[in-house]
Amino acid sequence: MRVLVEPGGTVEGVATVPGDKSIAHRWLILSATGRGASRLVGLPPALDVGSTARCLAAIVGIGARPPLEAWGSKREPQGSAAGLTVDGRVVASIPKDELVVEGQGRDELHAPLDALDCGNSGTTMRLLTGVLAASPFVSLLTGDDSLRARPMERVAVPLREMGASVRTDHGHPPVEVHGGPLRGIRHELAVPTAQVKGAILLAGIAADGETTVVEPVRTRDHTERALRRLGASVRQEDGSVAVSRFQHEGFEAEVPGDVSSAAFLVGAAVLTGGELTIRRVGLNPTRTHFLSVLDRMGVGTEQRMTGEELGEPMGDLFVARAERLHGTEVAARELPFVIDEVPVLAALAAHAEGETRFEGGAELRAKESDRLAGVAEMVRDLGGRARVEGEDLVVEGGGLAGGRASARRDHRLAMAAAVAALGARAACEIDGMEWSDVSFPGFPQTLRALGARVGVA
Ligand code: S3P
Repeated sequence: MRVLVEPGGTVEGVATVPGDKSIAHRWLILSATGRGASRLVGLPPALDVGSTARCLAAIVGIGARPPLEAWGSKREPQGSAAGLTVDGRVVASIPKDELVVEGQGRDELHAPLDALDCGNSGTTMRLLTGVLAASPFVSLLTGDDSLRARPMERVAVPLREMGASVRTDHGHPPVEVHGGPLRGIRHELAVPTAQVKGAILLAGIAADGETTVVEPVRTRDHTERALRRLGASVRQEDGSVAVSRFQHEGFEAEVPGDVSSAAFLVGAAVLTGGELTIRRVGLNPTRTHFLSVLDRMGVGTEQRMTGEELGEPMGDLFVARAERLHGTEVAARELPFVIDEVPVLAALAAHAEGETRFEGGAELRAKESDRLAGVAEMVRDLGGRARVEGEDLVVEGGGLAGGRASARRDHRLAMAAAVAALGARAACEIDGMEWSDVSFPGFPQTLRALGARVGVA
C-alpha cells in the first residue's frame, strides 16, 4: 500500500494504541503452557502476535487449540482506529479483544504436524525455541525471508548447553529443536537481547536446578515480571536474573498499550505541533528510555501511572507541544534501551537543529531489516541527510524537502517514514505501508483520525 503524506495537519487529542507486542507474545505462551484457564484482554491484532498464537495452537492440547487457532488465523487485522470526537477532543481508539485459553500445562505440549511458521517475528521464534527445548519431541521453526536471514545461534548455544538439541542452518532458520530434560545453566549474554534472555528463562522453568542469565545491560524484563507475578521464584541481582522449575496456573490480565507503537504517535504529534495523550499504555521503565532521549531533544512528556497488570505498570503518557528540536547523541550503552525506537527518533532527528548520532548500532543490522542502512536511506529518500559511519548512524538535522521512501518490508521503517514525512516541506509518498500491520494495525488510520493528512496514494 502506498500512502501520500501531506504537510498541514496537526496530530493531537487522545489515543490508545494496540496492546504491547513483546508482552503479548509472553502472556500468550504463558497462557498456553499454564495449567487452567487464562483470560487475556487487549491482545494486539498485530501479525507477529498472530504468528505466536498459530504456532502455539499447533503444539497445545485439544482444549486450548481452537481459540489460539482462531486468533492466529484472522486474516484481516482488526482494530483499525475509529476517529471519534469526545468533548471536543479527537479520540482514536482501538477496540479490545478477549481470548480465553484452557491450558493443560507444559507437559501436555505435543509435536506439531508441520513446521511452525513464525512469519516475520523473531520474538516468536526465539521464545518458542526456549519452550520447545524442554519438550520431548522434534519441531521445526521457520519464517518469512526476513526472519530466515536473522541470527539464531545466540539462542541455540545456551539451549544446547542446557541439554536440548538445536540445529540451525549456518546460524539461521529453519531451527530444528529436539527437546528433552534440561539442566540449569549460568549464561552470560554476549549481546544484550531480551528475546534470548526470555528463551533461556522459559527453558529454565522446566529445567533441573537453577538457571541464571547474566546481562551486560538490563533489557526489557517482561518475562521475569510475569513469572514472578505468577508465583515463580525469580531472583534478581545486579545484572543477573535466576529462575528454577515452576509450573504456573491460569491467569487473567489486560495487555497494556505498546509504548513502542505509542512512540510513533508521539513523533507525529511533535512534528505537527500537536499535544497528545495516550491512554493505558505500558510504562515499564525498561521500555521508556526513548522519553529521556526526547527530553534531550526538547520534547516534554509526562507519565501518569494508573495501574499494573501481571507486574507491568501502565498509565497515561502526555506529550507537550514542542517548540524546537535539538540534535543529540545517543551513546552505545543507551542503544539497547531504545533499540526499537531508533527509526522514529531518527525521523525526529531529521527535523532537529544540529546533528544526531546513534552510537554502536551494529545490532540494528539484525532486526527485521538492516535498520542501520535502512534508516539512513529513508531520511535521504525523503530529502534529508543521513549516513552510516562504521556502526554509528548519523542524522543531520535541518528538515526534509520531501520525496518517496519505502518501508523495505519493515514495520518500524514504514511508520518512521510516515512520521518523518509529516514534518516535510512537501508531500511525500511511502511505499509498503501495509507492513505496519506487523505491530500496529490501523496505523495510517490512527494518524488520520488524530488529524494527520495521510491518504492512500
Ligand atoms: C523484543 C526484544 C528486542 C526487540 C524486539 C522485541 C522482545 O529484540 O527489538 O522488537 O520482545 O523480547 P532483541 O531481544 O533481539 O534485542
